[in-house]
Amino acid sequence: MERTFLMVKPDGVQRSLIGEIVSRFEKKGFTLVGAKLMQIDSTLAEKHYQEHIGKPFFQELVDFITSGPVFAMVWEGKNVISVARNMMGKTNPAEAQTGTVRGDYGLSVGMNIIHGSDSPESAAREIKLFFTEEELLTYDKVI
Ligand code: CMP
Repeated sequence: MERTFLMVKPDGVQRSLIGEIVSRFEKKGFTLVGAKLMQIDSTLAEKHYQEHIGKPFFQELVDFITSGPVFAMVWEGKNVISVARNMMGKTNPAEAQTGTVRGDYGLSVGMNIIHGSDSPESAAREIKLFFTEEELLTYDKVI
Protein backbone atom coordinates (compact mmCIF):
# COMPACT_ATOMS: atom_id res chain seq x y z
CA MET A 1 0.00 0.00 0.00
CA GLU A 2 1.24 3.49 -0.87
CA ARG A 3 2.58 5.74 1.90
CA THR A 4 3.22 9.47 2.11
CA PHE A 5 4.86 11.88 4.51
CA LEU A 6 2.73 14.80 5.75
CA MET A 7 3.76 17.43 8.27
CA VAL A 8 1.77 20.11 10.06
CA LYS A 9 4.17 23.07 10.00
CA PRO A 10 4.82 25.39 12.98
CA ASP A 11 2.00 27.76 11.94
CA GLY A 12 -0.50 24.89 11.87
CA VAL A 13 0.65 23.61 15.28
CA GLN A 14 0.45 27.08 16.84
CA ARG A 15 -2.99 27.68 15.41
CA SER A 16 -4.25 24.41 16.95
CA LEU A 17 -4.95 22.80 13.57
CA ILE A 18 -3.36 19.38 14.24
CA GLY A 19 -6.69 17.75 15.12
CA GLU A 20 -8.53 19.34 12.19
CA ILE A 21 -5.88 18.21 9.73
CA VAL A 22 -5.62 14.65 11.11
CA SER A 23 -9.41 14.46 11.01
CA ARG A 24 -9.57 15.37 7.33
CA PHE A 25 -7.23 12.56 6.33
CA GLU A 26 -8.90 10.07 8.69
CA LYS A 27 -12.34 10.90 7.30
CA LYS A 28 -11.06 10.50 3.75
CA GLY A 29 -10.27 6.90 4.70
CA PHE A 30 -6.49 6.97 4.90
CA THR A 31 -4.66 5.13 7.67
CA LEU A 32 -2.27 6.86 10.06
CA VAL A 33 0.75 4.58 10.48
CA GLY A 34 3.12 6.96 12.32
CA ALA A 35 3.02 10.37 14.00
CA LYS A 36 5.08 12.53 16.34
CA LEU A 37 5.32 16.09 17.61
CA MET A 38 8.92 17.13 17.13
CA GLN A 39 11.32 20.05 16.89
CA ILE A 40 13.30 20.05 13.63
CA ASP A 41 16.94 21.19 13.82
CA SER A 42 18.70 22.97 10.96
CA THR A 43 20.54 19.80 9.86
CA LEU A 44 17.28 17.91 9.37
CA ALA A 45 15.61 20.97 7.80
CA GLU A 46 18.39 21.30 5.23
CA LYS A 47 18.16 17.60 4.37
CA HIS A 48 14.38 17.74 4.11
CA TYR A 49 14.43 20.79 1.86
CA GLN A 50 17.59 19.80 -0.09
CA GLU A 51 15.91 20.39 -3.47
CA HIS A 52 15.45 24.08 -2.53
CA ILE A 53 19.11 24.75 -1.60
CA GLY A 54 20.24 27.85 -3.47
CA LYS A 55 16.75 29.29 -3.95
CA PRO A 56 16.21 32.83 -2.59
CA PHE A 57 13.72 31.67 0.02
CA PHE A 58 15.80 28.73 1.29
CA GLN A 59 17.02 30.36 4.52
CA GLU A 60 13.52 31.66 5.26
CA LEU A 61 12.22 28.12 4.75
CA VAL A 62 14.77 26.62 7.16
CA ASP A 63 14.21 29.38 9.74
CA PHE A 64 10.46 28.88 9.66
CA ILE A 65 10.38 25.08 9.80
CA THR A 66 12.80 25.13 12.77
CA SER A 67 10.92 27.95 14.58
CA GLY A 68 8.65 25.68 16.64
CA PRO A 69 7.25 22.15 16.90
CA VAL A 70 5.91 20.36 13.83
CA PHE A 71 3.61 17.33 13.71
CA ALA A 72 5.16 14.72 11.43
CA MET A 73 2.97 11.94 10.06
CA VAL A 74 3.01 8.95 7.74
CA TRP A 75 -0.28 8.05 6.06
CA GLU A 76 -1.13 4.96 4.08
CA GLY A 77 -3.77 4.35 1.40
CA LYS A 78 -4.58 4.01 -2.28
CA ASN A 79 -3.02 6.89 -4.26
CA VAL A 80 -2.39 8.65 -0.94
CA ILE A 81 0.48 10.77 -2.35
CA SER A 82 -1.54 12.49 -5.06
CA VAL A 83 -4.86 12.54 -3.19
CA ALA A 84 -3.23 14.12 -0.12
CA ARG A 85 -1.65 16.76 -2.38
CA ASN A 86 -5.10 17.58 -3.75
CA MET A 87 -6.50 17.78 -0.22
CA MET A 88 -3.67 20.13 0.78
CA GLY A 89 -4.26 22.52 -2.13
CA LYS A 90 -1.80 24.62 -4.09
CA THR A 91 1.46 25.71 -2.41
CA ASN A 92 0.37 29.34 -2.41
CA PRO A 93 -2.75 29.56 -0.21
CA ALA A 94 -3.97 32.54 -2.26
CA GLU A 95 -4.34 30.15 -5.21
CA ALA A 96 -5.56 27.13 -3.24
CA GLN A 97 -9.21 26.21 -3.55
CA THR A 98 -11.64 26.54 -0.67
CA GLY A 99 -12.09 23.11 0.88
CA THR A 100 -8.38 22.35 0.78
CA VAL A 101 -6.21 22.69 3.90
CA ARG A 102 -4.20 25.60 2.49
CA GLY A 103 -7.23 27.21 0.86
CA ASP A 104 -9.08 27.19 4.16
CA TYR A 105 -6.27 28.01 6.60
CA GLY A 106 -3.07 29.12 4.85
CA LEU A 107 -1.84 32.70 5.10
CA SER A 108 1.16 32.91 2.78
CA VAL A 109 3.39 30.72 0.61
CA GLY A 110 5.79 30.42 3.56
CA MET A 111 3.12 29.91 6.22
CA ASN A 112 1.06 27.38 4.31
CA ILE A 113 0.20 25.06 7.22
CA ILE A 114 1.18 21.68 5.78
CA HIS A 115 3.86 19.87 3.81
CA GLY A 116 3.24 16.73 1.78
CA SER A 117 5.52 14.57 -0.37
CA ASP A 118 5.16 15.29 -4.07
CA SER A 119 6.20 11.92 -5.56
CA PRO A 120 6.85 8.29 -4.58
CA GLU A 121 10.58 9.07 -4.51
CA SER A 122 10.23 12.04 -2.16
CA ALA A 123 7.75 10.12 0.01
CA ALA A 124 10.27 7.29 0.47
CA ARG A 125 13.09 9.75 1.18
CA GLU A 126 11.11 11.93 3.61
CA ILE A 127 9.59 9.01 5.53
CA LYS A 128 13.09 7.60 6.08
CA LEU A 129 14.38 11.01 7.14
CA PHE A 130 11.76 11.48 9.86
CA PHE A 131 10.83 7.96 11.04
CA THR A 132 12.53 4.69 11.89
CA GLU A 133 10.94 1.42 10.72
CA GLU A 134 9.99 0.67 14.35
CA GLU A 135 7.96 3.90 14.56
CA LEU A 136 5.70 2.86 11.67
CA LEU A 137 2.89 0.42 12.40
CA THR A 138 1.11 -1.70 9.85
CA TYR A 139 -2.32 -2.87 10.90
CA ASP A 140 -5.66 -3.93 9.45
CA LYS A 141 -8.76 -2.01 10.32
CA VAL A 142 -11.23 -4.47 11.84
CA ILE A 143 -14.12 -2.07 12.44
P1 CMP B 1 6.45 22.83 1.11
O1 CMP B 1 5.41 21.93 0.56
O2 CMP B 1 6.83 22.65 2.53
O3 CMP B 1 7.75 22.71 0.21
C1 CMP B 1 8.65 23.77 0.00
C2 CMP B 1 8.16 25.03 0.62
O4 CMP B 1 8.81 26.19 0.17
C3 CMP B 1 6.71 25.25 0.26
O5 CMP B 1 5.92 24.33 0.93
C4 CMP B 1 6.53 26.70 0.65
O6 CMP B 1 6.11 26.85 1.99
C5 CMP B 1 7.92 27.24 0.49
N1 CMP B 1 8.02 28.21 -0.57
C6 CMP B 1 7.84 28.02 -1.88
N2 CMP B 1 8.02 29.17 -2.55
C7 CMP B 1 8.33 30.10 -1.63
C8 CMP B 1 8.65 31.48 -1.69
N3 CMP B 1 8.66 32.11 -2.86
N4 CMP B 1 8.91 32.12 -0.54
C9 CMP B 1 8.89 31.46 0.65
N5 CMP B 1 8.62 30.13 0.76
C10 CMP B 1 8.35 29.48 -0.37
